[in-house]
Amino acid sequence: MATALITGGSVGLGRAFARRLARDGWDLVLASRDQDGLEQVASDLRSIHGVAVEVIRSDLSERGDSLRLAARLEDPDRPVDLLVNNAGFGIHDPLATCSVERLARAVEVMDLAPAILAAAAARAMRERGRGGIVNITSSAAVLRTGAYAAVKAWATVYSQSLAIELADSGVRVLAVMPGWIETEFHKRAGIQANAFPAALKPLVYVPADQVVDQALEALAKGKTTCVPTKRWAAAVWLARVIPESLNRKVSAALTDSRT
Ligand SMILES: NC(=O)c1ccc[n+]([C@@H]2O[C@H](COP(=O)([O-])OP(=O)(O)OC[C@H]3O[C@@H](n4cnc5c(N)ncnc54)[C@H](OP(=O)(O)O)[C@@H]3O)[C@@H](O)[C@H]2O)c1
Repeated sequence: MATALITGGSVGLGRAFARRLARDGWDLVLASRDQDGLEQVASDLRSIHGVAVEVIRSDLSERGDSLRLAARLEDPDRPVDLLVNNAGFGIHDPLATCSVERLARAVEVMDLAPAILAAAAARAMRERGRGGIVNITSSAAVLRTGAYAAVKAWATVYSQSLAIELADSGVRVLAVMPGWIETEFHKRAGIQANAFPAALKPLVYVPADQVVDQALEALAKGKTTCVPTKRWAAAVWLARVIPESLNRKVSAALTDSRT
């Protein structure tokens, strides 16, 4: 039976990955800070799908917790076939006043921890000649909307570079750049997600299950980058090809809409 390790498996997109993979018969290792939340997800999936689910309480802003998860990924007796680097949170403080501590936390959770885990997975999987690493970044990576965009741009380039390094090793690496997903994310970040009229919401928000399905399909096809839904793929493409001055205007409007 294949095993997947998912960070941030307690709610949102990570839980959607857990449900889909358990339905497909994968055993799981779920990691996040919320032990009770993880145990609840684990017990549901064990009873519905009969898969094995291990829970590892981890705060990825703590380097020691990331290193412990990395050791789990490299345990030769309990191989992990798929890593989903998903844990993350919104950070939209003005750059001039954002505390160094908050910036460091964002970089640790969304850049350094995924890099530590991806490198551990890469070593173990390359040795076995197979495996998959999925890094959840964001469509924001192509904008100039502040710390979150910058952190996710780093994660995207990291992922795409690792994919090049591991080409022909049998290990697939995919950067997933979702647009807006209706999860706990916006509420937790204190972002005004209701700036859109309710009627427009289905046009801009992507269901978490759809992100998961398209990500796993892209991984199976050996793609290295995936922007779920044609609508968001077109938006990301546009942001990359329009003049920088127009990208700045769109970025400024988006930043203003959050406050
Ligand atoms: N929602 C969107 O619109 C959107 C768009 C593009 C990309 N993304 C990205 O998608 C990923 C999943 O986000 P989501 O939308 O599912 O948000 P969410 O519902 O808020 O879930 C975030 C997950 O990350 C975990 N997490 C946060 N900080 C952590 C830490 N210090 N240590 C360990 N786990 C931590 C949380 O678990 P605990 O609280 O249990 O620790 C939770 O399971 C993130 O990387 C996010 O940046 C989201």
